[in-house]
Amino acid sequence: MMQRATKTSRNRGGSGSEKEVALESYNVTAKYYDAAYATKQDLVDLPFYLDLAKASGGPVLEIACGTGRVLLPIARENIDIDGVDNSLPMLRVLKSHIDNEPAEIRRRITLHEGDMRDFRLREKFPLVIIPFRPLQHMYTLQDQLRALATAAFHLQKNGILAFDLFYPKMELISAGVGQEIVDLEWQANSNSVVRRYFRKDSVDKINQVFSFTFIFRTYKGDKLVHQESEPFKLSYYSYPQLKALFRLARLEPVAEYGSFAKTPLDNTAEQMIFLLKKS
Ligand SMILES: C[S@@+](CC[C@H](N)C(=O)[O-])C[C@H]1O[C@@H](n2cnc3c(N)ncnc32)[C@H](O)[C@@H]1O
Repeated sequence: MMQRATKTSRNRGGSGSEKEVALESYNVTAKYYDAAYATKQDLVDLPFYLDLAKASGGPVLEIACGTGRVLLPIARENIDIDGVDNSLPMLRVLKSHIDNEPAEIRRRITLHEGDMRDFRLREKFPLVIIPFRPLQHMYTLQDQLRALATAAFHLQKNGILAFDLFYPKMELISAGVGQEIVDLEWQANSNSVVRRYFRKDSVDKINQVFSFTFIFRTYKGDKLVHQESEPFKLSYYSYPQLKALFRLARLEPVAEYGSFAKTPLDNTAEQMIFLLKKS
């Protein structure tokens, strides 16, 4: 069921420790991911990606598929889908979901452990998607370009690459370093609640990367009974930077939107959403 994707030869022999760290990413978050994002009211991307998948007819490749938040609904539309992620904890959660699906859905899904900077599958796809900002886990221009090259490599002729990033509101990015805020809360079971806290730790404005920590606190009534945390980094992109990256990756925009309701990508944008094809 789960395969290890092959890599481009350029990266063979790379640092073992770097790989080790990558495999552990989302280790804590994987346990909470589905419950957390089920409560996130402004996460409204699913109809957008489902429509693209249906229009393509499949098969679809989802890069950085996580726990299957988008992958599973696509498979349930009877569309074949390959999912790739480099986090074994996230893939394990997805595998447990897949095991609960009927056989006709299970056989639509192929999972691969791989890094978006260098994995290579044999198949090409009419649609490649990277939903919910995984490209913001690429922290250098080189890695951003490698990830786009991976996506482009897997496109069929006239295939579409679709992905979203957050629209960087510079005043928010700089604000609130060191402050803990509760950003999501959900009922874990009949007598406990989990609150996810977000703490921005630092902002590197030169490289456009900020570091933060998610802290998951479980409460029974007012009593804190469990706490665990995980550090993350996210990059943010400017629009001209993206246009330059697309050119370098030989991709050209087919459409761009500022929200999943397909509003224009302008000063009111909440997201930066792109559909691209090979140029
Ligand atoms: C915010 S989650 C999005 C998951 C899923 N696409 C969704 O919409 O719920 C980001 C995902 O990117 C994955 N990821 C981060 N860096 C990666 C890399 N270098 N290669 C592959 N996946 C990566 C993480 O493991 C995580 O599953």
